[in-house]
Amino acid sequence: MDWVAVALTEDVPPGVVIPSRIEDTDLAIWCTPSGRYHAWSDRCPHRGMRLSHGFVRGETLACIYHGWQYNETGSCDYIPAHPKLTPPDTICVPTYTCAEEGGVIWVSLTDTDRPLPALGGRTPVRSLPVNMSAADLAAHFGATTFTTIAVVSDVDVLLAVQPCTGGTCMVHALAAAEADRSSVSHWLENLRATLEGVPA
Ligand code: FES
Repeated sequence: MDWVAVALTEDVPPGVVIPSRIEDTDLAIWCTPSGRYHAWSDRCPHRGMRLSHGFVRGETLACIYHGWQYNETGSCDYIPAHPKLTPPDTICVPTYTCAEEGGVIWVSLTDTDRPLPALGGRTPVRSLPVNMSAADLAAHFGATTFTTIAVVSDVDVLLAVQPCTGGTCMVHALAAAEADRSSVSHWLENLRATLEGVPA
């Protein structure tokens, strides 16, 4: 799978974890206090609690249920109920390839050597959920991939489309730094109304 935008960096400041997803894969997206981003399976290996409900403690992510702490490789390195125990290497959260570019957090569910999408210097304006599949949205613009769709005919906007479940997607809009952010935001809301067939 290609790179997929899963969040804007402004929504994941250092020390924060949020839920996200790519299709049926639930993700915990978190940022260490020193600014490194991670994308993990949103399921604690202990009893399955969502890790996105947890909290960042130092350079680790801690589960909210029993407090198991996972270091940046996804390995458990501390179990509060057994503080002297060195957890076995088998206790490990599945992790995904994750990178930041242009104010967007990008994830690939498989190892990839593809370069990150070219954003042309654009920066994020906002994210918006759309009740349409990523594939249908790409087809609307005649695009062959939904990773990034450049819309330059009426406004110079780049859409990074995140496929979600149930035939929906999240659209992350980026525009040139000098663009009127309010106009772009309004254009995006009109686009959603058009795609969903409802009044803006
Ligand atoms: S379910 Fe996560 S520590 Fe128990």
